[in-house]
Amino acid sequence: MVIWLEGELGAGKTTLVRGLLRAAGETGPVKSPTYALVEVHVVSGLNFYHFDFYRFDQAEEYLDAGLDEYFSGSGVCLVEWPDKAAPYLPPADMRIELHVASGVESGPGGEGRRARIIAASDKGRACLAGVMSSSSLRQA
Ligand SMILES: Nc1ncnc2c1ncn2[C@@H]1O[C@H](COP(=O)(O)OP(=O)(O)OP(=O)(O)O)[C@@H](O)[C@H]1O
Ligand SMILES: [Mg+2]
Repeated sequence: MVIWLEGELGAGKTTLVRGLLRAAGETGPVKSPTYALVEVHVVSGLNFYHFDFYRFDQAEEYLDAGLDEYFSGSGVCLVEWPDKAAPYLPPADMRIELHVASGVESGPGGEGRRARIIAASDKGRACLAGVMSSSSLRQA
């Protein structure tokens, strides 16, 4: 399963991944992979690979770092800044676009976030259907 997390600096990509991993049962720290490029979490019998390609100057750095191997296994790959490695990344099963909410969108607590979730494969559609049926999210 490959999930792309898209949105400007500070849009909330790492925070969303942290929430997802907490929900999956991760009790340890969930660090941003900005410097390590990948952080691995083994939880609930699943391997989660959390990437951040922000620091790439060239997409070829993705290949040089040998990161393509992570995508050939059975884990869940969560990718921040996928566009920085775009020509070499396998296609996403799901894309999550985040942006900082403003005005009426931001809710009573002040600054919130809006997420647009796009299922891009059969696997992604099955996953999104599961999320929708078990939550109060509004389908657009
Ligand atoms: N849903 C949210 N509501 C309010 N604040 C949030 C939310 N999500 C993230 N933040 C805050 O926004 C800031 C940036 O969040 P985060 O580091 O997750 O962004 P990011 O998209 O991963 O940024 P980068 O592109 O630098 O990796 C943090 O201070 C975080 O606490
Ligand atoms: Mg981040």
